Amino acid sequence: MLKNKYILEPMDLTVEEMDEIFELAEDIMENPAKYAHVADGKIMATLFYEPSTRTRLSFTAAMLRLGGQVMGFSDPSASSVKKGESISDTIKTVSCYADIIVMRHPKEGAPRVAASATDLPVINAGDGGHQHPTQTLTDLETIRKYKGGVEGLTIGLCGDLMFGRTVHSLIKALSRYKNVRIKLISPKELVIPEYVRKNVMEASGMDYEEFNRLEDVLPDLDVLYMTRVQKERFFNEDDYIRLKDFYILNAEKMKLAKPDMIIMHPLPRVNEIAKEVDDDPRACYFKQMRMGMFVRMALVMKLLGLEA
Ligand code: NCD
Repeated sequence: MLKNKYILEPMDLTVEEMDEIFELAEDIMENPAKYAHVADGKIMATLFYEPSTRTRLSFTAAMLRLGGQVMGFSDPSASSVKKGESISDTIKTVSCYADIIVMRHPKEGAPRVAASATDLPVINAGDGGHQHPTQTLTDLETIRKYKGGVEGLTIGLCGDLMFGRTVHSLIKALSRYKNVRIKLISPKELVIPEYVRKNVMEASGMDYEEFNRLEDVLPDLDVLYMTRVQKERFFNEDDYIRLKDFYILNAEKMKLAKPDMIIMHPLPRVNEIAKEVDDDPRACYFKQMRMGMFVRMALVMKLLGLEA
């Protein structure tokens, strides 16, 4: 079992617990039949107050592949949320019917409110521009699998570092590993928020540098983590339009990268990775996306105390 019942941010898991999840995810990947009934009779509720493709479907697939069942909503306007019900009342309701709750919400901190209203395990599947811990598990496992581990790597995080919750979560998790060099690449309007810089990067003594041009640092990277500009978090459409195509990774730019660099992206992509890059053997984002299902299977098993 895990120390915490609520996975609201990466620090809710210890490094050892994460390693156990990664090892379990790898075993599930290799021996899926062994795990096909471990969650028989269990129900997951997926409460998505914000759009999602991969996160919701990978949680759904994860639970179904463990033998469990899934209920929930992906459009809150079709639930009592529309009538003005509070998060805590919705959670109390769902707690009567389900065994585990997965929640995505546009407001930072909403999953913490949910967790305080129930004794069931709660997983934050993304809260506003804040945290996205299961994407981080997916990202770390992808780096482990394709780069053999995290320590000693130079990792570039590029794009919308201001609003991108996957970046905030990943930085938090990386702050616990030794000898990781972080290169932050963003337009000046979308730099990493001050609280992440002070409370996470500086507090942990992280080795980091900031860049405006991707080309200036691309040759040094072992991992390039691209992100989309988070349109839905902008206050002003003109700013979004001005910044949305600031970085476009294409085959020409990839000539500058190391032959064994991996390209990651939490997806969805908009324009920041040209389609031609998909055929580059260094493109890892579709493998990363598949990995998401296996790490979520492992996390659900650990939270529910299930064993094969
Ligand atoms: C990310 C998210 O929702 O934060 N997507 C995902 O979960 N894979 C990234 C994004 O939306 O840009």
